[in-house]
Amino acid sequence: MTDLLIQQAREAAAQAHAPYSEYPVGAALETQSGGVFVGCNIENANYSNSLHAEEVAIAEAVKTGHKTFTRLAVSSAARDGLTPCGMCRQTLAEFADEGLEIVCDTGDGFDRYTLGELLPKTISEEMLQQASQQREAEK
Ligand code: THU
Ligand code: ZN
Repeated sequence: MTDLLIQQAREAAAQAHAPYSEYPVGAALETQSGGVFVGCNIENANYSNSLHAEEVAIAEAVKTGHKTFTRLAVSSAARDGLTPCGMCRQTLAEFADEGLEIVCDTGDGFDRYTLGELLPKTISEEMLQQASQQREAEK
C-alpha cells in the first residue's frame, strides 16, 4: 500500500517543472474515500512564485471536495528522504490532525512520520478561538 503511494509520488515528480532548483518533487495524497491526488513542484523564473508539490496535491484534492486526508507520500528525484517544508506542514495541518501519516521516499525504502512529529504545537482554528475567548473574558 505504502509502496504504491510512494510510486505515485515518484511518477508525479517526473512531471515537475523545476529548471531552477533542478530538484523535482512529487507528492501523493490519499483521502478518506480512497482516492489519491498528486502534485509536483512548479517553479517560476521569478523564483518566489514556485508551487510546492504538496500544495498542488492539496489543491487538487480540496477543489473537488476532498478534505479528509489519511496519508501523504513525498519523493524527490534524489530520493533522499525529503520531508515536507514548514509551509507545507502548516498547509496540511489546516485539514489533517496530528495523526496524519507522512511517508518520505529514501530510495531503498521510506521514512515514516506523523504530522504531529513534524509540526508540534501547530497554530490552528481551535487555538485562535481559545485566544479570542480569553481576550473576551479579560474585558
Ligand atoms: N519543494 C517542494 O515541492 N516541497 C517541499 O516541501 C520542499 C521543497 C520544492 C520547492 C522547490 O521547487 C524545490 O523543491 C527546491 O526547494
Ligand atoms: Zn513545501
